[in-house]
Amino acid sequence: MKKTCYVTTPIYYASGNVHIGNSYSTIVCDVFARYNRLRGYDTFYLTGMDEHGQKIEEAAAKLNLSPQQLVDNVAVETQKLWKELNITNDDFIRTTEERHYRVVQEIFERLLASGDIYLGKYTGDYCVSCEAFFTKSQLKEDGTCPDCGKPTRVVQEESYFLKLTKYQQQLLDHINNNPDFIQPVTRRNEVVAFIEQGLEDLCVSRTSFKWGIEVTSNPKHVIYVWIDALSNYLTALGYLSEDDKNYQKYWVNGTEVVHVVGKDILRFHAIYWPIMLMALNVPVNFKLYAHGWVLVKDGKMSKSFGNYIYPRDVVSRYGLDAMRLFLTKEMPLGNDMVFTYDRFVEKYNVDLANDLGNLVSRSISMVNKYFNGKVIKPSSTYSAFEQDLVDVAVDVIEKYNQAFANFRFQTGLNEVWNLISRTNKFIDETTPWILAKTESEKDHLNSVMYHLLESIRLVAIMLTPVMPDTCEIIFKELGLSLQNIDELAYGKTLEYHVIAQPIVLFKRLDLDEEIKYHEQKNAQQVKRNPIKPEITIEDFNKIDLRVGEVVAAEKVDGSDKLLKLNVKIEEEVRQILSGIAQSYNPQDLIGKRVVVVANLKPVKIRGLLSQGMILAAEGVNLPLEIVELFKQNSFSKVS
Ligand code: MSP
Repeated sequence: MKKTCYVTTPIYYASGNVHIGNSYSTIVCDVFARYNRLRGYDTFYLTGMDEHGQKIEEAAAKLNLSPQQLVDNVAVETQKLWKELNITNDDFIRTTEERHYRVVQEIFERLLASGDIYLGKYTGDYCVSCEAFFTKSQLKEDGTCPDCGKPTRVVQEESYFLKLTKYQQQLLDHINNNPDFIQPVTRRNEVVAFIEQGLEDLCVSRTSFKWGIEVTSNPKHVIYVWIDALSNYLTALGYLSEDDKNYQKYWVNGTEVVHVVGKDILRFHAIYWPIMLMALNVPVNFKLYAHGWVLVKDGKMSKSFGNYIYPRDVVSRYGLDAMRLFLTKEMPLGNDMVFTYDRFVEKYNVDLANDLGNLVSRSISMVNKYFNGKVIKPSSTYSAFEQDLVDVAVDVIEKYNQAFANFRFQTGLNEVWNLISRTNKFIDETTPWILAKTESEKDHLNSVMYHLLESIRLVAIMLTPVMPDTCEIIFKELGLSLQNIDELAYGKTLEYHVIAQPIVLFKRLDLDEEIKYHEQKNAQQVKRNPIKPEITIEDFNKIDLRVGEVVAAEKVDGSDKLLKLNVKIEEEVRQILSGIAQSYNPQDLIGKRVVVVANLKPVKIRGLLSQGMILAAEGVNLPLEIVELFKQNSFSKVS
């Protein structure tokens, strides 16, 4: 029977924007799915949308939409984006679909009947944003959410609980007996340490909001989001449905089941999910790959910083395959990566314009110039340079397969680039332009050209999962149709007939020009920022503006934008974080008087408490001007 592969991304929250960070998982899973199809596995790639929960209920209310209308809109937009990014998912599961809804209800009732779920009372600190309860010891010092830093609420309610405690030892045994269950190993160790602290039973229902799947036997409860969301990996395959052939094929009898998740949702997948499966008597036969985060210069991408990078912006300027390659090649599994356009352009020029693009265009041009586009497989033995190239190719192919089969794309792609570099060097070593001057070297030259084309062909097969469009063009240039892994061996082609004119695959970019372009674009975006809806003087009066004096100022470690200020307002000294580091030197601010929004709810930014906001603007010495302005207008609250 054909080997199978089932690969899943996390299902995305329908409340957020898909930025370059969370499109990362979808792209790498697509690479994995395509690689497995290339090697002949019967592959099923699942992604989808997580559409329930309080956050969505609240977001819809703000937009004057019903939750269903909101998630319907987001689902359409998201699927459109995946098409544009050339994602080859076989299904898109939505948690509001009947096929999911019904089975989640059934799963819940089964777990109730087996005693793995029981009714109890929950008092806990709940983060609305993350839709998670946290124990006191998990909260940050100031009581905020350990994941997103937002304030938590104390919630008490009758709730159902999943008996995690019952399965603690069984889970540890599973992790110990399956060393590659959680990868990379640092994440595995993290999970083991967490379990060894002792698990607590997990609250799995809520009564304080409605937008969720009802518990059939007690409809005042909705099923708390993680049982709902995690079950998607089974419901999409038809688990507990009339037609469960995909569940049998890809899960029960499957060869390879792979869940890919970001590090922030590792615990849910490494602990709650296997325990749910154990309680349901479903085999725990998946591997979990936890990846790091795509960050930007200021750290995390966030709505409040307005520093999202959107995949469409990157694609429209640099092309889809360049982005797919960058994300797959530059992000080592498990670690974070900082995305900057400078680095993107630098890698584009080196990897694509220079290394790959040049290799292909030089080779096609030479084959046309010396042989009118036609080259045949040489019968003679290989020269030393040729043999070395073949040896490198054989070694690269083995390492590439080893890496790609184990989700180590960066390693695999570095290997492919070793072959590309070796092949470029081969041109310099064999100097075809000199061979072409001597008629008696014609066979030798044919052999050199053949080796070049063979090497490009192998590179194109290996890059197909990452850069499908580019590789299709390369095959066309070589006069071949698309190939799969069976052809990933040296010497498989008997004759080449390449196209007459090489196509410029990647044009070299001017770094300064690109930087200027992005700066201008950012500036335009700031200008385009529309004026918000009108407010009344009563609204304005809610803001308590005070003048304070900066008594200390320093940069915040690891941030280009943030300054940490101590501001004395009357007798009180407050710590305030302000994004003005690019406009002011900290020492110049000491002694300056600034206007502070004094009644702004304190928040933690990068783990530091910020109690208020400084009114300032980039590039202008605004705080003092604002003070003057406020004084002239004699605002009562400004002293
Ligand atoms: N709905 C849950 C998943 C439920 S799966 C049963 C969820 N959704 S999410 O939209 O918030 O996140 C989706 C995925 O994107 C997660 O794996 C998350 O880690 C990932 N990422 C979100 N921001 C990211 C980056 N900046 N970089 C890389 N991945 C990031 O969690």
